[in-house]
Amino acid sequence: MQDNTPRLLEESINSLRQIAKVPPKIAIVLGSGLSAFGDSLKNPIRQPYSEIPHFPSGRVSGHSGCMILGQLPGHDIDVLVLSGRAHLYEGFHVDEVVHPVRAIRQWGVEKLIITNAAGSIRRKMQPSELMHISDHINFTGQNPLIGPHHPDYGERFPDMSAAYNPDMGALLQTTARELGIILHQGIYAGFLGPSYETPAEVQMAKNMGAHAVGMSTVCEVIAGHQLGLDICGISCITNLASGISETPLHHDEVKWAAEQGRERFLTLLNAFIPKLSSQ
Ligand code: HPA
Repeated sequence: MQDNTPRLLEESINSLRQIAKVPPKIAIVLGSGLSAFGDSLKNPIRQPYSEIPHFPSGRVSGHSGCMILGQLPGHDIDVLVLSGRAHLYEGFHVDEVVHPVRAIRQWGVEKLIITNAAGSIRRKMQPSELMHISDHINFTGQNPLIGPHHPDYGERFPDMSAAYNPDMGALLQTTARELGIILHQGIYAGFLGPSYETPAEVQMAKNMGAHAVGMSTVCEVIAGHQLGLDICGISCITNLASGISETPLHHDEVKWAAEQGRERFLTLLNAFIPKLSSQ
């Protein structure tokens, strides 16, 4: 694509409008191994990314990218799920990586929960536990706002001091506390990948204040925040990061830990979303 023009977005949005006349207020991006939430929705309408104009598809890893619109079990709350995402390391241009987030925001979504799998830099934050992302460090070398400025998207130089909405974060923390779910809080360092970080890179991220490392999220948050989306981030810790772990990292370990954390993740979301919808 390598093109962030409003015309492409308009074509995507026209297609989304055919799925539902009224856009849902809340959406969630599901990271690696976290697709179970999408499968739990009632009355789901599924739309593969390949059938939505300009949504990235073809190289989306793990499972094929799919948008699901449905209701939260036990509630009449509409939720839009972006199950699967395009990563920079797959060779997607940053405009393609953030296109779904821009499209759903321009359609009318107001609040976004963005999730990912991440490696922990803190020993006390263990695989299958969850971390509320309070801020990020962008180590990808990319930025989705590079290029022509489209005033419709927001500021040319957006303030990033509250990219992760503090009110949403506080609500997430309260929800976890009420449920007795361990929810760490920390800073997510987004790397380009696809090689895992070296121990020296993890040490650098740690020295700079990061608590977890991963290969997604930061560009989507920049683009979504510019457009005025209220964003809340959750990392599912799948491994101890390179050099913190005593064993070499393997993708199977990441998938296994995401599976282990699944129940906790679903419980948290099922309690958090109703609170969010009445906030
Ligand atoms: N590093 C980068 N990305 C990841 C990791 C990691 O340790 N674990 C899951 N995604």
